[in-house]
Parts: sequence; structure tokens; C-alpha cells
Amino acid sequence: MKTRITDLLGIDHPVLSAGMARVSQADLVVAVSNAGGMGCLGGVSFMPEALEAEIRDIKARCNKPYAVNLLLPDVLTSDEDSSWAPVRELWDRLSPADRTKLKGVEALLTQGAVKNQIDVVMEAVPPVIILTFATPKDFITQCHDKGIKVGALTGSIGGAQKAAEAGADFIIGQGTEGGGHTGHVGTMALIPGIVDAVSLPVLAAGGITDGRGLAAALSLGADGVWVGTRFIASDEAYGHEEFKQRVINGQSRDTVLTKSYTGKPLRAFRNDWTNAWEKRTDEIKGFPGQYAVAGPLVETGYQDGDLNEGMMPAGQGIQTVNKILPAGQIVTDMVSEAEAILQRLSR
Ligand SMILES: Cc1cc2nc3c(=O)[nH]c(=O)nc-3n(C[C@H](O)[C@H](O)[C@H](O)COP(=O)(O)O)c2cc1C
Repeated sequence: MKTRITDLLGIDHPVLSAGMARVSQADLVVAVSNAGGMGCLGGVSFMPEALEAEIRDIKARCNKPYAVNLLLPDVLTSDEDSSWAPVRELWDRLSPADRTKLKGVEALLTQGAVKNQIDVVMEAVPPVIILTFATPKDFITQCHDKGIKVGALTGSIGGAQKAAEAGADFIIGQGTEGGGHTGHVGTMALIPGIVDAVSLPVLAAGGITDGRGLAAALSLGADGVWVGTRFIASDEAYGHEEFKQRVINGQSRDTVLTKSYTGKPLRAFRNDWTNAWEKRTDEIKGFPGQYAVAGPLVETGYQDGDLNEGMMPAGQGIQTVNKILPAGQIVTDMVSEAEAILQRLSR
């Protein structure tokens, strides 16, 4: 299945696994890339030294293209002490036990850590970087100078246009169905809108879990798919067994769009924590300040499998995810199923 995205990225299949914080570590990236798709490392959840080690591990086990996800909004790259003061104040109030639980979000709560992540990634020169939340033009130019391709993840047509103007090589449009931080427009409406608005290759994301989703994405004018939730239920994904079981047993309406974990709209499993904060929305801090309130719950979810309070991002596509599979098989099944659908339709 050849598309503009397989040509641009030099991969066999137009299937990318999403750069999910914590969930997408080296094992998942290597499995997806070695199967002919492209794995993306959830770079944001690593402190700089750990990020360097993780990328080294990927390079040692895989000689195919891979990507690294970074979050570079001004608030995280700023040197202004004032923008970090609210975060530091909350951090100082955390108990030692809670601080040890902040492994996955420490880089987002530590002044200077994201800048150091950038240094590590620019030194490692991955084939592809995926930017979320912001697409700084200078950074994209630096990537291009090193031969790195840049994809931009966005939930809006305006975001796609901005990223195209800043020089991104391709766009990932994520509909509100998707797990993790997400916007308010559905995939079915968003993707054709982005395809009409920019001339770059587009990947569709949000609610895509199998070959039907891939075939539909291509029909909407996309050049491939970017898939998160389906890969949580893979052998190689990091995450507690309870989290994976919940993905394979859950229904679409078990997820909710909530600001209670990070301060930005995030689709995750509804639970006691998200329900309680629905009555306290005016107390929710901005991003990343709310992470300092809820940060320990990230590991309560991923590591401890606590369904009641732990953060477990997942998309509405859980409805059609019924089995934990090897990640490479998820890629190849998705492609062969889509090919069969497209052949049937063309008859
Ligand atoms: C557990 C989880 C963690 C995520 N973490 C990130 C992240 O760190 N950075 C990011 O850009 N997107 C993140 N996302 C969003 C994905 O990149 C992707 O856009 C989304 O999962 C696609 O929708 P789907 O879940 O329906 O496949 C995350 C999603 C999930 C489910």
C-alpha cells in the first residue's frame, strides 16, 4: 500500500503508532517499525538522560525509520521564572511518596527539562520528529537542516494551516474520538477539512483501530493513519495489565474528555477522579500546573492499574479493540484488512 506518506518517510505501510507518553517506549517503537510501519517514541515522558538511552536502544534494535514525539509549547520551553512559579509552588507541596510517582511527567514539571530533551533529540537525529501543541518555525528549520522530517499533530484546520506555514512536512489530524489530549471536532469532519486546507500529506487519527479505519481514512483523502489506543492493547506497550484489560473490555462511552489531569482536554477513562472534578472545573489549573495536582495519578494508572483514580488515556475506539496482540501483527492485519476492503469496494 503506497501513499505519499510511505514515499516521504521511506516505510512499507502507511501506519504510524502514536507517540504515547509512557505507553510508547522503545519496545513498541521497535516492533512497529520493524513490521514496516513507523513507531513513535513518547518522548515527553522521559527526563533527558533517559530519553537519550531510550533512543540509543531503538537504534540498536531497529534500522528502519522511527519517530520521536516532543511537546514544545512556549510555556514548557520558556526560561521565564514567572511561568514556572505556579508549577514549582505545587511541586514543593507534594509529599515525597507522591514525588516518586511523578516519573512520567517530571520532564513537564521541571524547568529546563524540555529544552534539554530538544538537545538530546537534535544530537540523536531521529528520522522523524512529531510536534504536538506547537510548531515553532525555527525549530522546524533546524530539523530540516539536519535532514529530520517533521510531522505536526493537531485537532483543528487552523492548527494544520499554521503547521504548514511553519514548514511541517506532514500533518496528523486527530479527531475528538482519540485518546490523550484531543480537540472537539470528530475525525470524519476534521480529516477532509484538513485535506482541503493544506497540500501536505495528512495522517488521520482518532478512533482508528483496524483495517476498516485505515480504508476509511484513505477514502477521506488521508495518506495513512496515526494510531494510539489500539496499540495500548499490544504485547509491547508499557502499562499495567488492568489498563490493557480495560481497553479490550471497554465501550466508547467509558471515556470522557477531561481537563482534570493535565489542565488541557484529555480523553481518558471516566472514573472517580474525573467525576469528582466535573463539579470543580473552576478550580482546575492551566497546563502544566494541573499536572502538579494530578501528576502522581499518571503512574497510579499506568504502573499500578488503579481504575478509580489513575490516569488512563484512551479513545472511543476501545469499542472495537478486543484482543491484546503483538504490535507488528496489529500493523500487518490493519493493512491486509484495508487492502481487502478496498479491493471489494472497487469491484
Ligand atoms: C495513552 C495515550 C497517551 C498519549 N500520549 C500522547 C503524547 O504524549 N503526545 C501526543 O502528542 N499525543 C499523545 N496521545 C495522543 C496520540 O498521539 C494519538 O493522537 C491518539 O491516541 C489517536 O487516537 P486513538 O487513540 O483513537 O488512536 C496519547 C494517547 C493515548 C491513548
